[in-house]
Amino acid sequence: MTLDKENSINNILEENRIFPPSKVFSNNSNIKSIEELISLKNQALNDPIQFWEYYANSEIEWFEPFQTVLDSQNAPFFKWFKEGKLNITFNCLDRHVKNGLGKKTALIWEGEPGDKIKYTYEELLKNVCKAANGLKSIGVKKGDLVCIYMPMIPEAMFAMLACARIGAPHSVVFGGFSSEALKDRLIDGNAKFVITADGGFRKDKIIELKNAVDLAIESGANKVVEKVIIVQRTKKNIPIKVNRDLWWHELLKDQKDFCEPEIMDSEDRLFILYTSGSTGKPKGVVHTTGGYNLWSHLTFKWIFDIKNDDIYWCTADVGWITGHSYIVYGPLSNGATTLMYEGVPRPSNLGAFWEIIEKHRVSIFYTAPTAIRSFMKSGPEIPAAYDLDSLRLLGTVGEPINPEAWMWYKDIIGKNKCPIVDTWWQTETGGVMISPIPGAVSTKPGSATYPLPGIEIEVVDKNGEKVKENEGGYLIVKKPWPGMMRTIHGNSARYLESYWEYISFKGEKNVYFAGDGARIDEDGYIWIMGRVDDVISVSGHRLGTMEIESALVSHKNVSEAAVVGKKDDLKGEVIVAFVSLEKDINSSLELEEELKKHVVNEIGIIAKPEKIIITDSLPKTRSGKIMRRILRSLAAGEKINGDISTLEDSSVLEKLKGSS
Ligand code: WTA
Repeated sequence: MTLDKENSINNILEENRIFPPSKVFSNNSNIKSIEELISLKNQALNDPIQFWEYYANSEIEWFEPFQTVLDSQNAPFFKWFKEGKLNITFNCLDRHVKNGLGKKTALIWEGEPGDKIKYTYEELLKNVCKAANGLKSIGVKKGDLVCIYMPMIPEAMFAMLACARIGAPHSVVFGGFSSEALKDRLIDGNAKFVITADGGFRKDKIIELKNAVDLAIESGANKVVEKVIIVQRTKKNIPIKVNRDLWWHELLKDQKDFCEPEIMDSEDRLFILYTSGSTGKPKGVVHTTGGYNLWSHLTFKWIFDIKNDDIYWCTADVGWITGHSYIVYGPLSNGATTLMYEGVPRPSNLGAFWEIIEKHRVSIFYTAPTAIRSFMKSGPEIPAAYDLDSLRLLGTVGEPINPEAWMWYKDIIGKNKCPIVDTWWQTETGGVMISPIPGAVSTKPGSATYPLPGIEIEVVDKNGEKVKENEGGYLIVKKPWPGMMRTIHGNSARYLESYWEYISFKGEKNVYFAGDGARIDEDGYIWIMGRVDDVISVSGHRLGTMEIESALVSHKNVSEAAVVGKKDDLKGEVIVAFVSLEKDINSSLELEEELKKHVVNEIGIIAKPEKIIITDSLPKTRSGKIMRRILRSLAAGEKINGDISTLEDSSVLEKLKGSS
């Protein structure tokens, strides 16, 4: 792992504009000034245990109180709020109904074909309870893993919450993943139950989710899967396997609309969510109940400055951590109104997002830099045609945002009156770690600014030494926090290796390495520079180079493959694959296309290589390691800098230059 990717990721060193929060916004916000924020940070610094104890008690309802705030005995396998008993769905639903918010809209849903529906907190609770009773009736028990492979429909939210209600951890798999990828996740998690849909609408196409489930089961997941529950969405005819497949609406029809929440230990699993790393297969990140409930709740409250009448919209998919924490758990735990949209803007309706904001008077909007860059490309006249005056706060997540896109977002969408919160975090962190508090922190375009209270961040070199001001280094978190991952499902050794043992620290133990590069400027602002490991971020979607390489070499004509990221104005990065073929196989455009398709089949459309470069051999060191640095330069069309003396065969370079 090297830091050599950092300069090509984001050239943001000259940015020095600074935007203080407006008086109007600050005066009305929950945390009103930098002084107030600093005081919170100091409280956390001086007595972290008391700090977390206070918030855990004041923000979350416990069935039985915790006695131990943080147990570090087996660090870095930390435990939070031990002995505490709770159910996250009680905090997301029942307590609001109990507190008089039963008639408040919890969920506004907009379907891709134009259908729509709203649910109050009372209605959401009933739907979740019915689903929970339905799951129980087919034998789902506390601790059983349930895989959810769904389009962005309300039932996806019901299903997640129903699992949490009965103590069955969920494993949501993004609907864009292929049957192969689904199969791996089903087997790895030992998922006995799958909740899916007959299909989903995406742009003008139907995604055949049930078909993918069938294929995943036929090709190996039959070892683990016992029952498949199908939500009717597209109403297309699909094959039903008797004794295994059940319709959601039939299962729920006669269920009672109340289900007692299961009493969960704070450290009981809430969910697994798979994400890519630099080595091996995707890893199942484990989150537990108490700490995650607090962290998703508190970060949502702090960062989005939530008020009772806000209409909040996060455009992520529930298949990603952003959807888990900031469509479902964070907003609902705060009693907010959360909007969910099944579609994405498409050429025939580029104004889809703005139309929804206008129609529902959305006040807080949270999206990804890639989306903002594509809006920029289609021109300011598209959003200008809509009334976006309801907006008061804008957020971004998932990848570094370039200052141009940040300014465009602020000026064109926010009409220069909405603060921008650029939020840095990861599947592993459970919730946001670095972000401006909108009423308190002045923002700089492209910087996620400061860590949140209770979060201690540093940028260090390989030896764990703090780097100088404005110098790039590894981003680390120095103290545990409640929302942190607890382990990797079935692979605690990988948990230790990937996050806790990479950098050798002097004197400091249990320091979390995020896999990102960053620098800290003269004002203490953090600038994220992107991944420093072999993870590529395509439109903010994390993909491991190894995963894509394994997909490529599983094709019969491929002997070796090396995958790198190439900077892209719209998507942040795109995938370029260097491939050498088996003997007697000739390269052709058809084969390149076939290989792209093969990767889509193995992983999903998000992993489709932009370019396949067929070559006789790959540049390797004498010890046989592929020199990705060289391939990255070649893919980018840049001069090859740095030492190439370790290259085993320098003629490879000349050949490669010819073919790329
Ligand atoms: C990147 C998504 C820059 C980063 C929530 C991280 C960001 C990875 C930002 C995690 C941001 C996320 N600025 N980079 N504001 N937010 N990232 O697990 O590289 O899908 O490590 O979680 O996205 O991606 P993940």
